[in-house]
Amino acid sequence: MSGPPTVLVTGGAGFIGSHTCVELLDHGYEVVVVDDYSNSSPGALERVVKVAGRPPAAVHEIDLLDRRALGEVFEQHSFDAVVHFAAKKAVGESVEIPAEYYDINVGGTTALLRTMREHGVHRLVFSSSCSVYGNATKVPLTEHDPARPTNPYATSKWLCERVIGDICRRLPEFSVLALRYFNPVGAHPSGLLGEVPPGVPNNVMPYLAQVASGRLVKLRVFGDDYPTPDGTGVRDYLHVMDVAEGHRVALEHLDDERGLRVFNLGTGQGTSVLELAAAFGRACGAPIPYEITGRRPGDVAALVADTSAVARAWGWTATRDLAAMCEDAWRFQELNPSGYPN
Ligand code: WQD
Repeated sequence: MSGPPTVLVTGGAGFIGSHTCVELLDHGYEVVVVDDYSNSSPGALERVVKVAGRPPAAVHEIDLLDRRALGEVFEQHSFDAVVHFAAKKAVGESVEIPAEYYDINVGGTTALLRTMREHGVHRLVFSSSCSVYGNATKVPLTEHDPARPTNPYATSKWLCERVIGDICRRLPEFSVLALRYFNPVGAHPSGLLGEVPPGVPNNVMPYLAQVASGRLVKLRVFGDDYPTPDGTGVRDYLHVMDVAEGHRVALEHLDDERGLRVFNLGTGQGTSVLELAAAFGRACGAPIPYEITGRRPGDVAALVADTSAVARAWGWTATRDLAAMCEDAWRFQELNPSGYPN
């Protein structure tokens, strides 16, 4: 008799990975995590257990590029599907150390695909990024708009999509969903799980949270001369709980078709930096101090998802609004001012 489906989650201790583990555990899946904790900590998985009320079936501390260790994980479990988050994701860093980004992001993905094939596992949900669209000439963006990645991080995700697409064309037993997330933010509503960036945050939401808590003095708004309504950058912020739910729903739709299918995960709503700061101020009960500074190199004016493809294919849309994103991010910040205990 077959038990509940078993899913391998790579990068399961990371921001999106940990929330997805909870979502899968909450929906009866058996979850096996691999993570090398290079940008996360075992503390996140302790919180996963606390929130979900039950642990993953196993946690393996391995590097995906260690193919022998990865093979052993596949020997020990019988996976129905893989959700692949493990990757490096800092845009600025990717410009400094591009070879590492290609090695880890593309090499990790090919190592995984090769190992999956060797063990007869052909169902994958792949973590892609809206950054593959690069300098968009219009919003909202559909999956048919051209990819024009502008940094090694984005290029590495685009290359992964290309490689996966080619593998799927040659090996028709594979079913892969690549999800291009827009800007995942927020935290689990319990306040137990959230985003723990190392050092000073690069991304605006954890930065706002640290300004609100007094750890940072003020938000630097990177440019107010963009061709957007208030001149500041516009993004499609998306609650991490919706991202996690999107992965669970994706798993349910892996068998709709063979081959690679690509979907945006966003809300379809654009929010400027000033609008986000104002929303965060409402969530934390005090206005966020900010100053306008110059543009950040490599930034683009606006990235907003056209979400109609995923809505049509799965009948699914993100449901949590900007207020919930800010309130949950703020709750996590207040309850965990220094991140996870280890
Ligand atoms: C958002 C907006 C900034 C910080 C990146 C990746 C993308 C994705 C999410 C990754 C921009 C402005 C920011 C600050 C600011 N996924 N900003 N002050 O650059 O849209 O996307 O993260 O894994 O792939 O590229 O996100 O949060 O850095 O910036 O004014 O201190 O906030 O200019 O307009 P970004 P972000």
